Amino acid sequence: LQRPKLLMSLTVTSVRLTGTKYGCGGGGCGACTVMVSRYQPATKTIIHYSANACLLPLCQLHGAAVTTVEGIGSTKTRIHPVQERIAKAHGSQCGFCTPGMVMSMYALLRNKPHPTMEDITQALAGNLCRCTGYRPIVDGCRTFCQVQTNCCQANGAGDCCLNGEGSTDESEHFLPLDPTQELIFPPELILMAETGNPETLTFCGERMRWVSPASLEELVQLKASNPKAPLVMGNTNIGPDIKFKGVLHPLIISPTRVMELFEVTQTPQGVWVGAGCSLSEVRSLLQKLVPQFPEEKTELFRALIQQLGNLGSQQIRNVASLGGNIMSAYPNSDLNPVLAAGNCKLSVISTGGRREVPLNPDFFVSFGKTILKPEEIVVSVFVPFSRKGEFVRAFRQAPRKESSFATVTTAMRVFFSEGSRVVRDVSIYYGGMGPTTVSATKTCAALVTRPWDDETLSRAYDVLLDELVLPPSAPGGKVEFRRSLTLSFLFKFNLEVLQKLREMVGLQFLPLPREIQPSLQEFQVRKYPSFKDQSVQDPVGRPIMHRSAISQATGEAVYCDDIPRTDGELFLVLVTSSRAHAKITGLDVSEALRLPGVVDVITAKDIPGKKVRTMFGYHEELLAESEVSCIGQMICAVVADTRAHAKRGAAAVKISYEDLPDPVFTIEEATEKSSFFEPRRVIRRGNVTEAFETVDQLYEGEIRMGGQEHFYMETQSMLVVPVGEETEFKVYVSTQWPTSTQDAIAETLDIPSNRVTCHVKRMGGAFGGKVTKTAVLASITSVAAWKTNRAVRCVLERGEDMLITGGRHPILAKYKVGFMNDGRIVAADIEYYTNAGNTVDESVLVVEKILLHMDNAYNIPNLQGRAAACRTNLPSNTAFRGFGVPQSIMVVENMVNDVAVVLGRPADQIREINMYKGPSVTHYKFEFSPENMLRCWEECKVKADYSARRRAVDQFNQQNRWKKRGMSIIPIKYGIAFAESFLNQAAALVHIYKDGSVLVTHGGTEMGQGIHTKMQQVLLLNLLYLTKKTFKSISFVFPFTQNACQTLYQRLEPVRQKDPKGSWESWVNAAFFEKISLSATGFYRGPDLYMDWDKMEGQPYAYFTFGACCCEVELDCLTGDYRTVRTDIVVDIGRSVNPSVDIGQIEGAFMQGLGLYTLEELKFSPSGLLYTRGPSQYKIPAVCDVPLRFNVYLLSDSHNPHAIYSSKGIGEPVLFLGSSVFFAIKDAVAAARAESGLVGPFSLDSPATPERACLACASLFTQKIPASKPGSYKPWALNI
Ligand SMILES: Cc1cc2nc3c(=O)[nH]c(=O)nc-3n(C[C@H](O)[C@H](O)[C@H](O)COP(=O)(O)OP(=O)(O)OC[C@H]3O[C@@H](n4cnc5c(N)ncnc54)[C@H](O)[C@@H]3O)c2cc1C
Ligand code: FES
Ligand code: FES
Repeated sequence: LQRPKLLMSLTVTSVRLTGTKYGCGGGGCGACTVMVSRYQPATKTIIHYSANACLLPLCQLHGAAVTTVEGIGSTKTRIHPVQERIAKAHGSQCGFCTPGMVMSMYALLRNKPHPTMEDITQALAGNLCRCTGYRPIVDGCRTFCQVQTNCCQANGAGDCCLNGEGSTDESEHFLPLDPTQELIFPPELILMAETGNPETLTFCGERMRWVSPASLEELVQLKASNPKAPLVMGNTNIGPDIKFKGVLHPLIISPTRVMELFEVTQTPQGVWVGAGCSLSEVRSLLQKLVPQFPEEKTELFRALIQQLGNLGSQQIRNVASLGGNIMSAYPNSDLNPVLAAGNCKLSVISTGGRREVPLNPDFFVSFGKTILKPEEIVVSVFVPFSRKGEFVRAFRQAPRKESSFATVTTAMRVFFSEGSRVVRDVSIYYGGMGPTTVSATKTCAALVTRPWDDETLSRAYDVLLDELVLPPSAPGGKVEFRRSLTLSFLFKFNLEVLQKLREMVGLQFLPLPREIQPSLQEFQVRKYPSFKDQSVQDPVGRPIMHRSAISQATGEAVYCDDIPRTDGELFLVLVTSSRAHAKITGLDVSEALRLPGVVDVITAKDIPGKKVRTMFGYHEELLAESEVSCIGQMICAVVADTRAHAKRGAAAVKISYEDLPDPVFTIEEATEKSSFFEPRRVIRRGNVTEAFETVDQLYEGEIRMGGQEHFYMETQSMLVVPVGEETEFKVYVSTQWPTSTQDAIAETLDIPSNRVTCHVKRMGGAFGGKVTKTAVLASITSVAAWKTNRAVRCVLERGEDMLITGGRHPILAKYKVGFMNDGRIVAADIEYYTNAGNTVDESVLVVEKILLHMDNAYNIPNLQGRAAACRTNLPSNTAFRGFGVPQSIMVVENMVNDVAVVLGRPADQIREINMYKGPSVTHYKFEFSPENMLRCWEECKVKADYSARRRAVDQFNQQNRWKKRGMSIIPIKYGIAFAESFLNQAAALVHIYKDGSVLVTHGGTEMGQGIHTKMQQVLLLNLLYLTKKTFKSISFVFPFTQNACQTLYQRLEPVRQKDPKGSWESWVNAAFFEKISLSATGFYRGPDLYMDWDKMEGQPYAYFTFGACCCEVELDCLTGDYRTVRTDIVVDIGRSVNPSVDIGQIEGAFMQGLGLYTLEELKFSPSGLLYTRGPSQYKIPAVCDVPLRFNVYLLSDSHNPHAIYSSKGIGEPVLFLGSSVFFAIKDAVAAARAESGLVGPFSLDSPATPERACLACASLFTQKIPASKPGSYKPWALNI
């Protein structure tokens, strides 16, 4: 053992069960979920629980049975109902998250065959999906609930899903769940557990030892002689430390076989809970106890249950131990404040004997440290009953509601003398307010012995404010927010205590419904118009399941890293710059080369061909030679026989730097120093300067919008295999653009392109991030393969991927708008600055697209836009779904919103007044009809019942002081196709084999968007309605198969005429004997589009996709916590080729947009280092973020002459509609501000995180926090 071997590495490398996916390695994404089963001899029962394979040490699993996704079903035998239902509910797009989802659900069903919706959402809370938006996954799982709530009929959609009408995919006919058919627990493991193994188990390795004692005495002795050795229980603290911080423990003690650590004993005063019990076990225990006692005795139990429900994910709670959580002494532990406030105590043991240690203010010493001696072991934790007159409450606020460490977490306990409101005893603890759990001792002193009234509380707030001070540059940032939360939580506690004391119901604190109700989704597919005039054999327009969904759900789908290792294969790990702007003064690889397994180190000098790639005249080095311009820039790469060896090698490379002055990080710094990538672009219609003179009102504003990480679930992956002759290479790569990868590798190796073959089976998500960046990474990998003449694999760790590959461009926009009192916007002048990072990449194109969409849905007669890509010393940003449009439209919508606020009119009215109407022309002189945009808008208002709900929202806001609702409706007009005309072409090659099977080679790549599924539908329609097919794709340029299919159809037609009763196979066979070519190419020459930036006019798009989205949110003004109550989307996508695939794209894009505008925050240190390098720090939407009610409608009777089968592009546009949540939050904030007498426009940057929303509410608590003077301190994070 070099370090504890994890289950993950066994499944992937040793037993080759590749269905268990690796998305992060830190327990944060759920892709690696498996089920662990154990036999408990004491109760003679078998327990099953889900767990993250990436954190499960193999040695810990001695005696356990592990079930992976392959174990529950496969296409070769029988698929499991969970696999089937998730697939058929369209819950698998790219499929990379699907095995994890399946296993979380499977583990739940093993324990509860008829779960509730609450159970399902809890079980899936720790499983991230970047594609689907979760609704279809939950929908598939919901079919297991005993009480089926809704079907399409309940929505009044006519044909009912249950009678199968109109359906071609038989998705309603599910395999039944039969618990008797599940895998049995291996009897030999029962025998092993029954007979017991009193021996100490030891596993020895090269650099470490793993010891598992069988008794408490042994454990005590072992710990006494090795006080520094950690006790590994759930490994959820030690595991990430080893992995991400490189901590090496020569000895690990595993006490999981020591029975005393799992014992539970009840006493008249409370309950002793074994420190080894998992957090899930503690929660179930307390849940069982609560109903057995009077309410007054279980105050603490209930506070613990509540906190435990929100702590981490199900998978984490299933393995993390109570003792481990206490002893980890995290600054923001959720349990420690409750245990401490609740007067819990520990029973600890060492060679010195047993003692009891109270969890009091002295217990937590500093980060990760407690007062216990290193050799002491926590045996159990005493959780006391509460007393009459005692109240305990816990609160937490986290960046995401579930599966996220809290920003601030707290527990408060107050004890009143009977029949009095005088405080006898009180304790308050906070997490997230210092290096460890802290006690608000002075605040407690201000409360004790006093009556619980306004005067006492008012004093307590002041004392608390003085007591819990954070320095302005405190780690974690959010200083004002955190401080205000401490007050808000005390205020909330006050309200609850008052409720209790006065037995009063606080109407304003209606809790939000916890469960997600995806059943409220309205599908239109069964009413889809194309069915009426369509032959039953015609598959186009049908909601056909993603063609790989089943194999994705069974784990059989092959992703790049699932390809088995080839003989002599090497692994490549990159060495990146640790400086933002510096000269490289030395590169010493000698130590790395001496390490075991290391074969070579690749530097720029090894590149035989082009060392740079050129875009817009700027050079980007593949590997930096003399200078670096951002942290994370690639300098060299270590190749070794294994990933672990390559990693060690990379860590041993020594680079010395000489810092260069004045690195540029922020947009402000870049504009000050004129640090731009040229060309900067300008677009103009009318004359804004003159128009500003004529308007009734002028307003100037600005908005800043953060960037976004792609967070495709499968990180950048590639395998380059030298064929062995004529410098030929086979490249297996997860890329959206294989041509560009092929070109880049050929240039880098100085070989012709025909020596490089790129294979893309599928990607585990891409979203724009697997275009240019992948080409660079593949080029470097190919140099290693060329130099060593061995196959080389490179698969980035999540942290490396996030550090190196960049994402969406952050922007700062400033606008001046002139408008009339009747709401007409007459002129707008907008400046956009994007933070492009250290290389140009596609930034100029992004800037152009920003300007082309700056009007969105509005006809502003005088419009001027200027846009620049700022060159900074941050990792270079790149393409991302929407390509600048989500930023651009955000600005104009914010501007229109401001106009509405200035005029004191509803924003939807100002939007309507200014929308394009009738035959229209954009600011770049492009003619179009906005009819369908207006139809989407109107239909959205009707479907969402906008007017009535708006009134209800206003009424709600009048009745509630601290909860506010907000609503918004937003339109979109999104241009499809490329102004760079050469990109609008597509090719396909179709072969029909003698047995009738068909092979299509086309230019599209499958990244979850179902291109192969749609392609198959087109193929089936055009090739005589095939019944049997083999459909495989190797990708090159861009898609087009229809043309090739029609050629083949014409060639086969004479054969068919001769034998009309024959079969497809017989016609094909006959054609072969008649020497008819059964191969054809198809080519599509797209429209000749252009944009002339000098003349400021053009035809950059083939057509527009339109849509509208209405959202309603409920905001807790005290904490910034919000929930999307309802979303209604209407989109014009022409005649959809596959409505369920398209609805999947709409929902997935909406959720990604929701993440962009309200949740996802990239944080950089003052020296330019990305802090947010994994799911623990960077929060993408999870299942808890799905709107409580989510309706998607496709606009009916829409036709599009510009695309195949009258369809429209949908993958990108809808992302912007997520901003509707942002504007609904802004609307709610405005209502909160009005309560404080603040009216008029206000600034709210994107994303509207709880922090921003809470501070913008300007409540009495946020206003108490003194803002630190900018410039007087070094902030923890940059505002880039
Ligand atoms: C993805 C993720 C999300 C998380 N989210 C949250 C969250 O929202 N809120 C929260 O509070 N926590 C959260 N955690 C932290 C998690 O709860 C703790 O890591 C966990 O409780 C530690 O328990 P463990 O058994 O895994 O500890 P291990 O990693 O096994 O051990 C941790 C430490 O505790 C010591 N230790 C363990 N048992 C004993 C004992 N009996 N006596 C003495 N020392 C002992 C060990 O020596 C070691 O130093 C999260 C963790 C992860 C990975
Ligand atoms: S890979 Fe295990 S949780 Fe992400
Ligand atoms: S389908 Fe869930 S991540 Fe792609």
